[in-house]
Order: sequence, then structure tokens, then C-alpha cells
Amino acid sequence: MKNVAVFASGNGSNFQAIIDVVQAGELDAAISLLVCDKPGAYAIARANDANIPSFVFNPKVYSSKEGYEKEILENLKSHGVEFVVLAGYMRLIGPTLLGEYKGRIVNVHPSLLPAFPGKDAIGQALAAKANWSGVTVHFVDEGMDTGPIIIQERVQLEENDTRESLQQKIQRIEHKLYPSILQMLLIQGDVFYDKKTRAY
Ligand code: GAR
Repeated sequence: MKNVAVFASGNGSNFQAIIDVVQAGELDAAISLLVCDKPGAYAIARANDANIPSFVFNPKVYSSKEGYEKEILENLKSHGVEFVVLAGYMRLIGPTLLGEYKGRIVNVHPSLLPAFPGKDAIGQALAAKANWSGVTVHFVDEGMDTGPIIIQERVQLEENDTRESLQQKIQRIEHKLYPSILQMLLIQGDVFYDKKTRAY
């Protein structure tokens, strides 16, 4: 069973979905740590309720990304974390964390990448009057939502969709898709990454 850390910045509904499948015995993982960059985020309360330790930090008190990523790294190592799951963590991962965990970090994004990367993918899809959007699970690399795609599921936009309705449709998919693909990745995720060349 692998030790996993979840990174979240906000509500943490995806974090909760992962906690739920682990507690139901449907995902062979131990959630060893929550990493959160927003003191006060609801994800922290979810960690407390599930007796999961959290490392919470405020990026503004550090002079650089390297500064807080070094502390994250220390926490990941002290909890024996082998795999990192980004679940609504709204920051780019820098070289400090990638140096150690590249090939073992995944992210979920609320669009069909490469469409609508970055912030507010749901708002971007609505503004573009797209017919389709969806959910992407991908490996994390140096770019913004650019790493190799593992799986996608699409969602059809209706004319009367609002931000709330589209977010609901997308999150319903995320909460099923992300935990289920994690099971596969924790068992054989290593085959997608070459440690020698550091390439996917
Ligand atoms: C999720 O929909 C996730 O796909 C998105 O943030 C939301 C977090 O919700 N992530 C990104 O936009 C990353 N670029 P949650 O906190 O309720 O899980």
C-alpha cells in the first residue's frame, strides 16, 4: 500500500472523494498528509475529521517558491510519501518538488486539456460557448496543465448551463474518475516515466 499526499487549496471535495474510497477499502493507499497553501481552507477541516495530518503554509511569508517547496519536501519525506495527488491545488509545481517526485505527481483539471488550461477552466469554457468540456487527469510536469494526459471524460454543455451547473456536472465526474484512475496509477504508474532520462 502506497503512502499518498493530497495537495489542495480550497473546498477539497476531490480530497474527500479520495478519503471516502480509501475508507471504503476501494483504493489501496494510505493518505499520509494533506498539503494546503490556504490557511482556513475547508480541505483542512476534512483532513482533521479523517485524522489525516496536514502541512498548511502561507506562500506569502516565503521569499520564493523554492522556500516553501523545500518545507513541503521535508514534510513529504518525513511522512514517507511516495505519490502526490493534486486536487484543486492552484499553484505550479516547481523544480524542488519535481526533482524528487516527477513521474509520481498527478493532477485533475476541469476541462478537456489542452483546451482551457490554468485558472477558471469552467468560466473559460462558458465564455468560449464551447459545446464540450470535461475532466482531464494528467501527470504533472514543469508547465501549466501540460503534462501527459492519462484519461479524459467529456461533458456536454447545454445552452442554459451556468457556472454552478457546469461545475456540478464536472465535479460529479471528477469524484468518480480521479479515485478510480488512482488505483491503476498506484499499482503501475511507474511504467509511464523513465527515471534515467526523466521523460514520460
Ligand atoms: C476541481 O474542480 C479541480 O479540477 C480544479 O479545482 C477544483 C477543486 O475543487 N483544479 C484546477 O482548476 C487545477 N488547475 P475541490 O477543492 O472541491 O476538489
